Amino acid sequence: MVHPSILSPVTRHAPLSAAILGGLRDVEEIFANQLRSDLPAVNELAHHVERYRGKMLRPTLLLLSGMAARGSEDGAVLNKAHRTAAAVAEMIHMATLVHDDVLDEADTRRRGRTVNSLRGNETAVMLGDWLISNAFHLCSLIGDPAVNVLFGETTNTLCEGELLQLSRREDPSLDELTYMQIVRRKTAALVSSCCSIGARLSGASELVQDSLGKYGEFTGCAFQIQDDVLDLAGEEALVGKTLGRDLEKGKTTLPVIMLLRQATPWERSEVLSIIHNRDGAALLERLRLSGALDEAKATAIQLVESAKSALESIPHGVAKDLLCELADEVVRREA
Ligand code: FPP
Ligand code: MG
Repeated sequence: MVHPSILSPVTRHAPLSAAILGGLRDVEEIFANQLRSDLPAVNELAHHVERYRGKMLRPTLLLLSGMAARGSEDGAVLNKAHRTAAAVAEMIHMATLVHDDVLDEADTRRRGRTVNSLRGNETAVMLGDWLISNAFHLCSLIGDPAVNVLFGETTNTLCEGELLQLSRREDPSLDELTYMQIVRRKTAALVSSCCSIGARLSGASELVQDSLGKYGEFTGCAFQIQDDVLDLAGEEALVGKTLGRDLEKGKTTLPVIMLLRQATPWERSEVLSIIHNRDGAALLERLRLSGALDEAKATAIQLVESAKSALESIPHGVAKDLLCELADEVVRREA
């Protein structure tokens, strides 16, 4: 079921709305068909990860970029390849979430138990492997090797982002530049590929593919900053997943980088001791009082503005308008 908040702005444009909602239904079907196994034990796990499905941001962006690239308003430009690529993107995303929850030792995702908490790490690692394997099997059925290359480069980049992050755990001296490198790789790379692949499958020019790729990169970075803000300051009941994992796992994220950057040497040593003691409430109080939380949110908002500016070469129309509205939604969200 498609999360309403990500698509609510579409309702103003009925043909566009119908095209995306119809497209997403097909994506869900392609996804489910690909993951059907003759083994009940495997099917049960496949059903479990379907519960992880949320806003379907990545498939939505792929379909919408496919339309925006050609100034299409009714989805006539979308074909089976778009829908299959959108299912591939969602499957890659699911695989990364299943593995990410192992790394983060998270118990809850989308208000349900994580695979690692239900079945243990071995099953979760294997399930993530099965999902990524299925994603590339499905991708090869599109019959466009360039799409395989693009998704393959993206998963390489994504893993590199995670490895870089792991190498800098328990390191409060992490700077904003390195943080942005991590975010660009672990999150924005996939969002960016969704947008450029959507455009490519519509036969758009290199310029349009690149512009949409840039839009996706900026939007993806803003998305992850908001995710990191919510991990520190969100409400678990609203967000629907285990929060506070970044502090627990020694991940230094943008609000903390900004807090430490403006702190006096005395305040710095206090904050470091709060981090060392994993005192989430005290850290949140400092982040709020210092304005560091707002500063991080302001960075995300700036990135959204850059995302919209990247769309200059895209034909004007409702699909482009919606891309702008979705970028705004990414930083407004509380869940
Ligand atoms: C979310 O971070 C994590 C990612 C966006 C990427 C995770 C990628 C991997 C674990 C590599 C696995 C790769 C493959 C190809 C299977 P987060 O912990 O900040 O987000 P969260 O709050 O949603 O948990
Ligand atoms: Mg996580």
